[in-house]
Amino acid sequence: MTTASDWTGRVGRTWAAEWQRTDRCFANLSPRLDAAIRESAPTGPFRAIDIGCGAGSTSLALAAARPDATITAIDLSPDLIAVARTRAAGTASLTIREGDAVATAQQLPSADLLFSRHGVMFFADPVAAFTGLRAAARPGARLVFSCFRDRSDNLWASELMEHVTGQRPTPPPGYVPGPFGFADRAATAAILASAGWAVDGATRVDFDYIAGSGSDPVADAADFFHHIGPLASALKEAADPALDDRLKSALVRYARDTVVAIPASAWIWRATATGEQP
Ligand SMILES: C[S@@+](CC[C@H](N)C(=O)[O-])C[C@H]1O[C@@H](n2cnc3c(N)ncnc32)[C@H](O)[C@@H]1O
Repeated sequence: MTTASDWTGRVGRTWAAEWQRTDRCFANLSPRLDAAIRESAPTGPFRAIDIGCGAGSTSLALAAARPDATITAIDLSPDLIAVARTRAAGTASLTIREGDAVATAQQLPSADLLFSRHGVMFFADPVAAFTGLRAAARPGARLVFSCFRDRSDNLWASELMEHVTGQRPTPPPGYVPGPFGFADRAATAAILASAGWAVDGATRVDFDYIAGSGSDPVADAADFFHHIGPLASALKEAADPALDDRLKSALVRYARDTVVAIPASAWIWRATATGEQP
């Protein structure tokens, strides 16, 4: 489980320190998401909101592609907001706000497009959250977001974990806020529908998760997994140097040329705000 207080604190700090490597992980997914966001945008000038913007990459991509967009990017983590603000300096069309996108939805400018790269699976009550986000959406506004598919299709969180720890994670059934909170397609569709969003579709995107790169991509990936994600907690808890050797030997399997590329899979969801309150 990853909660709001994790993001405002330790997890947000780690992501801020690691933003270049987390961005690199998504390098093969982002072009697909960015294209889906552009395709859902109105043809003329429009307002957009980036939910859980992190270090701001998705907003910056939209700002570059659509100079006529006025974008508000919001995130819980003060550390990620600081990185996003630095990166957005000079991009006048992009405003970066620290806060809870749901709690402050009524204060956000009414938007034609809401989007997120992996920032919407952490709500304690997802139906209430997506209902609340409707307060920031014009009737007919579009929603586009990515999220991970099942762990079993994301080998960095299943096969790799099993190789290192000897155990495959067995998550409890049902929605748990965290990276795999929206893995179940039918459950996510039901959440959106209950919150007053008409589902336009979910596209499966399989991609290579770039966990390491450079002159020693295996060492880079091992270091990355010591800092971020489910493996980091397992490695810290075990405090066993043998696990580090197991991690490196597993990562070698995914090394090719100058990268460690691990099979991963995401959904890109598209939905439209209905005019009625649910
Ligand atoms: C997995 S990170 C993704 C960050 C960024 N979108 C990216 O692609 O790098 C999830 C982000 O969602 C943010 N987040 C989670 N719940 C939020 C909420 N209720 N309001 C604003 N931000 C939230 C977290 O602080 C975190 O930065």
